[in-house]
Amino acid sequence: MLGAAALTLSSCQPKDPYLGKTSIDSVVQAMTLEEKAALVVGMGMEGSTDGQTATVGSTKNLVPGAAGTTRPLERLGVTPVVLADGPAGLRIDPTREGDPATYYCTHFPIGTLLASTWNPDLIEQVGQSMGQEVKEYGADVLLAPALNIHRNPLNGRNFEYYSEDPVVSGKTAAAYVRGVQSNDVGTSIKHFAFNNQETNRTGVDAVISPRAIREIYLKGFEITVKESDPWTVMTSYNKINGTYTSQEKDLVTTILRDEWGFGGLVMTDWYGGDNAAEQIAAGNDLMEPGTDLQYKQIVDAVKAGKLSEKDLDACVRRVLELVVRTPRFKGYAYSNKPDLKAHAEVTRTSALEGMVLLKNEGGTLPLKGVKNVAVFGNTSYDFIAGGTGSGNVNRAYTVSLIEGLRNGGFTVDDSRGKAVLNYMADEAGKERAKLDPSLAAFLPIPRPAELLPTPAELSGILAKNDVAIITIGRTSGEFFDRTSPDFNLNPSERKLLTMVTDAFHKAGKKVIVVLNVGGVVETSSWKGQPDAILLAWQAGQEGGNSVTDILSGKKSPSGKLTMTFPVNLMDAASSENFPIDLDVPLSFMNRRTPSGEKDVDICKYEEGIYVGYRWFDKQNMEVSYPFGYGLSYTAFEYSEPKVALEGNTVKASVTVKNIGEVPGKEVVQLYVSAPEGTLDKPVRELRAYAKTSELPAGQAERVELSFKVEDLASFDEAQSAWVVDAGTYDIQFASSSRDIRQRASLDVKGSKKKVANVLNIK
Ligand code: BGC
Repeated sequence: MLGAAALTLSSCQPKDPYLGKTSIDSVVQAMTLEEKAALVVGMGMEGSTDGQTATVGSTKNLVPGAAGTTRPLERLGVTPVVLADGPAGLRIDPTREGDPATYYCTHFPIGTLLASTWNPDLIEQVGQSMGQEVKEYGADVLLAPALNIHRNPLNGRNFEYYSEDPVVSGKTAAAYVRGVQSNDVGTSIKHFAFNNQETNRTGVDAVISPRAIREIYLKGFEITVKESDPWTVMTSYNKINGTYTSQEKDLVTTILRDEWGFGGLVMTDWYGGDNAAEQIAAGNDLMEPGTDLQYKQIVDAVKAGKLSEKDLDACVRRVLELVVRTPRFKGYAYSNKPDLKAHAEVTRTSALEGMVLLKNEGGTLPLKGVKNVAVFGNTSYDFIAGGTGSGNVNRAYTVSLIEGLRNGGFTVDDSRGKAVLNYMADEAGKERAKLDPSLAAFLPIPRPAELLPTPAELSGILAKNDVAIITIGRTSGEFFDRTSPDFNLNPSERKLLTMVTDAFHKAGKKVIVVLNVGGVVETSSWKGQPDAILLAWQAGQEGGNSVTDILSGKKSPSGKLTMTFPVNLMDAASSENFPIDLDVPLSFMNRRTPSGEKDVDICKYEEGIYVGYRWFDKQNMEVSYPFGYGLSYTAFEYSEPKVALEGNTVKASVTVKNIGEVPGKEVVQLYVSAPEGTLDKPVRELRAYAKTSELPAGQAERVELSFKVEDLASFDEAQSAWVVDAGTYDIQFASSSRDIRQRASLDVKGSKKKVANVLNIK
């Protein structure tokens, strides 16, 4: 309907202005109102005009399975732009009707694992590989990276996100963007901003203080914009202090464009917001996937004088600026043959660098003199590559732990394998049958209870094997949050852990737990039982191989936690007002505003800036594993800390020596404690970090870290200003947020930078 209207009118326009041949302005001037509205509203999705139908992935015409496209305007030379998910690799349909070829993409590690590498160079390499798949499969913009803050362990999408800390989030996302965009394809950093829960994600109003907005929730986006120049930004579904983010000019224009200098395009999340005219006025340039209603809202608003055509032109111009950057506009002849083999190697090696060794008593790992391995836990057989929803990738295979161990030369006892796999398939079938079929493909199927070995099976396995590995798995994904039972180990997992550790320990044999999870789980109550715990995350399609590379000692683990593992879920400050275990019915859009239900319409971020370690340190609270924590097979010594001011930059350096016996990499974290000032401050805050190269035993490296003096600022709401207090700052070189190895101090002059007084709580 909308296409027909636009095209009839457009066919009588002069042919002269043509994108690429004449200026963008001349093309804008030549466009009718209807064409303009058509350009800023995407092509839509098959079978869905009301925004309520789950048809993600049905853009069949250009790149099947891509999430959306912009509208072509042939007479003006405007080609469409293909937008495709998502953070763990490109998500398109793997097969096409009547076409024998396959279009699998590489499933790279989830965001949380990538961040846990603390290695921007490596993340950039992963991004380069992803970007090559985007380009060679004919897409133009990858709808990633996703960098919302891990405010609470239960956010269903934490697996796509990076950290509870904005510096880690921002640096990780910036590296990712640089990598992907090195292929001359685009990214869309998302979800801007404050998407910290899935419960009622399209209706919830996030009520946040300006200080927390600036210091915690926007900081990572600011870093990414400034350090990597992403082509596009995707606004989030939720509201911020009463207004949908896509309709909030103070966010999309005042802060993003005017303050940070963002020059690219802003698009909505899929069907996000509720008024396209307001979105245009706010500076949200593109509505995706696009509905007839949005088109009408824009045309009507301009005709009624409620939306200025100048505002619409600004958005149109930015869409055209995006169009001309794309490979499609430039006529790139994509091959449909990305280098999947090389990328499998990239995912395997990058994954092992983000795995975090949580416990390793008595040098249990790496496995030495071990040949026969017993595996327990349903997940060992059905390894989880990543999360579900738009962050999933249609991969050709997933290497399970069993396959990985076998590839690594171990003899694996899977006498129970067939039974476990049959049981898993049956249980998954039953769960799937309970789901609305239109959503089933997008939802994580709950993991069934562990199929426990009988005592006879267990003693048979014990007799034949040198060591036991128990995998504990969790799936999560878009549309809903995890629950407290999902955070805790379930009774069958506890039973399995106890049975296996008791039996193996009695026989003098060790037990290793592998956590194949996308987010934080409770560890405090059971971590005493096994001898070693490896947090493998969800490591992409080569997961089993990557885990084996760590277990076997091919590589020393060098990942560190980018979030705190609390003792209890309720220890996190945000748990007080996070929608824990709310039984909100599920629908594609899940919009429930106003529902009148407590905790569904509004989420008050009462903890302010005290998210993650900022909170646990302030409270001096015991945690299970602190932010920044992670063991290695070797050990590192820190010496000769130095800090100096060079102009506007704080330059710090420290010598790190490998004092163990095997090669390894260390992540050096630079925390800063501010002097007493007018504002309340966290105990310490991460300001920079760096990873050493792989240091052979006995070798040392001088590690250099730097940050800008202005990064020391806190946001003073009373003055609407970033304020650096004058005084002596305590600079800490640390192996984790609770393992400070060296210190130095730095005298800093005070400064103040005023910014627009916006986004206040109404
Ligand atoms: C998700 C986005 C995604 C989009 C397109 C939405 O439901 O929130 O992250 O990019 O769908 O698939």
